[in-house]
Amino acid sequence: MNILIIGTGYVGLATGIALALKSNKVYFFDKDKEKIKHLSSGQLFFYEPDLQSALEKAISNNRVYFFDMLDKVNEKVDAVFLCIGTPVLKNGKTDLKNIKQAVCDIKKYFGQDIVIAVKSTINPDVFEFIKREFNSNNFHIAVNPEFLREGNALKDTLNPSRIVIGTEDNYAKSMLNNIYRDFDAPKIFTDPISAILIKYASNTFLATKISFINEIANLSDNVGGDIDDIALGIGLDPRIGKDFLKAGIGFGGSCLPKDAKNVIHFSRSKNINLGIIKEAVLINDTQFLVVIEKLKENLGNLKGKVVAVLGLSFKGGTDDLRDSISIKLINELLREGIIVRAQDYLSYEKAKEILKGVFISNDVYMTAKGADAIVIATDWKEYPKADWKKIRNLMKGNLIIDGRNILDKENLKNLGFTYKGIGRK
Ligand code: UDX
Repeated sequence: MNILIIGTGYVGLATGIALALKSNKVYFFDKDKEKIKHLSSGQLFFYEPDLQSALEKAISNNRVYFFDMLDKVNEKVDAVFLCIGTPVLKNGKTDLKNIKQAVCDIKKYFGQDIVIAVKSTINPDVFEFIKREFNSNNFHIAVNPEFLREGNALKDTLNPSRIVIGTEDNYAKSMLNNIYRDFDAPKIFTDPISAILIKYASNTFLATKISFINEIANLSDNVGGDIDDIALGIGLDPRIGKDFLKAGIGFGGSCLPKDAKNVIHFSRSKNINLGIIKEAVLINDTQFLVVIEKLKENLGNLKGKVVAVLGLSFKGGTDDLRDSISIKLINELLREGIIVRAQDYLSYEKAKEILKGVFISNDVYMTAKGADAIVIATDWKEYPKADWKKIRNLMKGNLIIDGRNILDKENLKNLGFTYKGIGRK
């Protein structure tokens, strides 16, 4: 099958490379010429290890082609996957600029029995707009949301928990069923609006689960419980499940915060109040402030104190800084008059452009030097394995605030640290 992918972010590339590995020919289009130049030479422009090697393989097998102009794609295309970003404007509405351009280009250069599968996260009004624009027998529209996690992009795309195909068009339904025939996952055939709501409900449920456990962690901190035991105790109930019950300083990234805010805004325009989701966002907006409280409790006046923040990416295993809680936290620490030193294994260079005047490095030890306190802001797997004895000797103080509850607290206490987790005893 010939497949065109519009948009080469995490979703577009993971989808396209996965389909190329399943023996399709995949044409990628992105209006960003620099990105296309990188990709054509086999280079991802973000960190995603499995995807990098799969891209190289797909190029050498002549399965993928990259374009910065759609009119250069001279092949008959069976399906187009819309994978462009849908940023939210300041007024809370979706910025339709990219979608409008893509719709216009597809109509101009392609036609005749082509399936348009919308992977970008869109609300029902945006879907109605797309449907109206493609109102011709040549175009067959479906909503096919994506559930991949950054850091696992290719694995999640090749082994999805489910494939959702939302369409009222039989041609689109059978084409997408065929495209996904070799994927071992339950397929849910539904209407487009339900497919859209599945995506919003999934991401906001995950967001709510995190805010829920963070709220319980704050209670646990106050009354002397242990959130690890509590999460285990509730997570073993199969109706609740143990995933996404890791307490910390909150969720970030390009999806959970944006999708939650977007669906709240959209629902308000329909006079529907999404109270639970609103509360989940509110809790998340202030959860990181527990770090400031803990610093004050242990260090007193914070002005002039040196704090080393370990982790800048929104989660471990990625270089993505979008909606990173660590960045929000650092800005707040700076407002408190704290001297911040920061570290990340992958995003440290990018972070220098955002956090002017902050010492930023990729080295934990250099960053910890002279610090009164350390704050773990990202769940990098490397942190528990660091040489904490060495870190203790490099620091001026001995306070650790583990904002992701990933360190071995007993070991740290034995090394002379004052350890504070989030809701941990
Ligand atoms: C998320 C969804 O998981 C994915 O299905 C969707 O397609 C895109 O959005 P991603 O943004 O890659 O994926 O990140 P995810 O792994 O979900 O983590 C999101 C945030 O929640 C991170 O900041 C992470 O640190 C935080 N988190 C996650 C917690 O604080 N506690 C948890 O238990 C889990």
